[in-house]
Amino acid sequence: MCWDYIEANPFNPEAAGWQTACEKNEKWIKHASKIPANISVINQASATSLPYPDGFFDVIATDPPYYDNVPYSYLSDFFYVWLKRTVGDLYPELFATPLTPKSEEIVAYSHEEGGYEAGKRRFEEMLTKSFQEICRVLKDDGVACIVFAHKSTDAWESIINALLNSGLYMTASWPINTEMQARLRAKESAALASSIYMVCRKRKGGKTAYFNEIKAGIEKRVHEKLDQFWEEGISGSDFFISAIGPAVEVFGKYERVEKLTGEQVTVAELLEHVRRVVSEYALSRILESPRLGGIDTEARFYLLWRWTYNDAKIPFDDARKLSQAVGIELTEHWNRGFIKKEKEYIRVLPAEERGKDFLKQTPANMVDVLHQALLLWSKNDRKGIAELLSRTGQAGNDDFWRLAQAVSEVLPEKDREKQMLQGFLYGREAYVKAAGSESAEQERLFE
Ligand SMILES: C[S@@+](CC[C@H](N)C(=O)[O-])C[C@H]1O[C@@H](n2cnc3c(N)ncnc32)[C@H](O)[C@@H]1O
Repeated sequence: MCWDYIEANPFNPEAAGWQTACEKNEKWIKHASKIPANISVINQASATSLPYPDGFFDVIATDPPYYDNVPYSYLSDFFYVWLKRTVGDLYPELFATPLTPKSEEIVAYSHEEGGYEAGKRRFEEMLTKSFQEICRVLKDDGVACIVFAHKSTDAWESIINALLNSGLYMTASWPINTEMQARLRAKESAALASSIYMVCRKRKGGKTAYFNEIKAGIEKRVHEKLDQFWEEGISGSDFFISAIGPAVEVFGKYERVEKLTGEQVTVAELLEHVRRVVSEYALSRILESPRLGGIDTEARFYLLWRWTYNDAKIPFDDARKLSQAVGIELTEHWNRGFIKKEKEYIRVLPAEERGKDFLKQTPANMVDVLHQALLLWSKNDRKGIAELLSRTGQAGNDDFWRLAQAVSEVLPEKDREKQMLQGFLYGREAYVKAAGSESAEQERLFE
C-alpha cells in the first residue's frame, strides 16, 4: 500500500468536512441506538465455513470483496491496534492475534508467492466456496442477495461461474447507484457508478437446454431490462454490466446449456453474446434509429467507446471485448488510425490528437472524415470542409450527419470535441450546399 490523498477534506465546512463527519456520526449513533439490543445476534466467522446447519436461513445478504480493490485486512490493522487496547478485554476472542488475521481473507493480493495470478485464483476459489456455503445454509425456498461491482467483464465471468457452480441462480438483478461521483478513483478511470444487486435462489432440478433455443429468451429479457435502464439514465460501462444480470436470469435456470454439438456453453460465450446484444441496442438508441447499416464498423466502435469510456485508458482485454461486440479486430487497427495502444492500455484518440500529418492522409472511414472535418472547422477552413465532404461523398449522407450528432450528444459538456462538433453541425446546411457546387464544378472539369 502507498499513501494517497484522503477522500474527505477536514477543513471544508460543507461537504465531507470535519463538521459534517461529526454530525453524520452523531445522527447515526442516535438512529442505531433505537434498534432494540436483543433483536440481532452478531457472530464473526469466515464466509467460507459458516457455523450453521444446512437450510438454516430465510434470507442471506452479502457484499463480498472484489479481487484486489481494497486491502481490507491491512486497513483494519490501523484501527485494530487501538481497539485491542480500548475494548479488547470485552471481546478477547476477536482480538486474540497481534494484528488482524490474514490467512482467511478473500482477496486477490499479488505480493504473495505466485504473484497476481495466484492471488486471483485463490480469490476465485474462496469466493466459490463461500457461495457454496450460502447455498448450503439457505432454506430451499430462501433468497440470497449478493452485491457485486466490478468494471472488468473477466471479474464478472468468475463471479457468475462461482454462482452457477454453487447451485444458486439469479432470479432478478438491479443496478443501484452506490458510489460517490466525486471519488478520486472515479475521476480518471472508467469506474462504475452502480453496484449490481443479484437476487438468487437455489436451483431445483437439473435441466439441460440448447443455447439456440434459449437465445431468443435471453435477448427478450435483456431488451426488456435495457429499456428500463435506458429510461433510468444508466449509461456507459454501467449499462453493459447491468445487462449481465438479466441474461444470467435466463441462462442460469439450466444446470447445463449446450451447443448443437453437445459442447457446454461457457459463461464467457454467454457474456460475448450479451455484449453484442447490448452494443446493438445502445447504438440504435444513441443514433435514434434501428438502422445501423449506413454507419461503418469503425464509427460504431468510436461512438460506443465514447459513450462507454469516453477518454479513459482501458486495459487491452476489456477494449478487445468492446471491439469484438461491433466486429472490429483491435490488433488490426491500433496505432494506425484513431485507436492507440499505450503499453497494456488502449485509448481512442479525439480529432485533435490525430497527429500533424493526419489532414494530408486519405480518410479510411467515417471517423477519419469526421475528424478531418473537425480539424478544418477549427482552422475556419470552410472551403476545405466542403471539398472533403464532396470528395468522400458524405455531404448528402444522412448517416454521416447522424453519427456526428450522436457523438456530440454522448460527449460530456465542456469536452473540446463536443464543442467542435457543435460548431461543425451548426454549419451543416452551408457545407452541404458548398459541397454540392464543389461536386458540380468537378463534374464540369471532367466534361
Ligand atoms: C465489499 S466489503 C463489504 C463492505 C460492507 N458492505 C460495508 O458497507 O462496510 C467486503 C468485506 O468482506 C470481508 N471479508 C473478506 N474475507 C472474508 C471472509 N473469509 N469471511 C467474511 N468476510 C470476509 C472484508 O474484510 C470486507 O469487509
